[in-house]
Amino acid sequence: MGFDVTADAYASFMGRFSEPLARQLVDLLDPAPGDRALDVGCGPGTLTAVLVDRLGADRLSAVDPSPSFVQAVRALLPEVDVRDGAAEELPFGDEVFDLATAQLVVPFMTDPVRGLSEMRRVVRPGGLVAACAWDLDRGPVRVLWRAADELFPGASAAIDLPGARDGQLAELMTTAGLDVQLATTLTVRVQIATFEEWWAPFSFGIGPAGEYVATLTDGDRERLRVRCVDLLPDEPLEIVGVARVATSRRA
Ligand SMILES: C[S@@+](CC[C@H](N)C(=O)[O-])C[C@H]1O[C@@H](n2cnc3c(N)ncnc32)[C@H](O)[C@@H]1O
Repeated sequence: MGFDVTADAYASFMGRFSEPLARQLVDLLDPAPGDRALDVGCGPGTLTAVLVDRLGADRLSAVDPSPSFVQAVRALLPEVDVRDGAAEELPFGDEVFDLATAQLVVPFMTDPVRGLSEMRRVVRPGGLVAACAWDLDRGPVRVLWRAADELFPGASAAIDLPGARDGQLAELMTTAGLDVQLATTLTVRVQIATFEEWWAPFSFGIGPAGEYVATLTDGDRERLRVRCVDLLPDEPLEIVGVARVATSRRA
């Protein structure tokens, strides 16, 4: 999946939505002062930075398989313990964290149950495991997929990933040995000044949407762009994204 990109490219494409989501997620999880937290699939450090503000850099660890993101977090947050690795094999000992989070990561895990089991393993009994994923039909780039489905039926199968449908995150967590106490949604609203500002980052090749756009011919990409103009609200655009969240306190 296309995540070996610069932090700036990610920020202009997905970070603009994941940053307000991170703030809401941390408010929801409400970690206590002194908690040790792990950000799994940290990307360029969007959620990591919000957790650092709350807990302090010395309480944070982060892990991601994308070398450019690991480098970006090390540069942005030099005091955070940042590791190169995947959720399925977390490079941490047992029961060392009070909180393990995976924001917008479960859909991209090669084995989500194993990844969530690993998150359970590294959290102490009584600690919290939390994951969120954009809702399949209400994510912030849904308009792109709506337009794509109209022009090229079946296109949005690319985002029918684990955790995106109602109840899936909770099911995956249960299979991973976690009792889910909370399943809810968080809604972000982001103002984007112009259509071009919304559209340009799709050419960066990031995530399923970027990868999909890269497969189109110039002509098909232009048809998609024109259809998105029709479907989106007037400028400035208010983009709404709904994420599904599930949390579990380890027994
Ligand atoms: C949509 S980004 C989310 C990044 C960040 N958590 C955020 O909220 O902005 C998905 C991230 O998952 C990472 N990722 C992909 N496969 C993974 C895996 N198996 N284990 C952990 N992270 C993974 C990617 O490298 C990327 O950084």
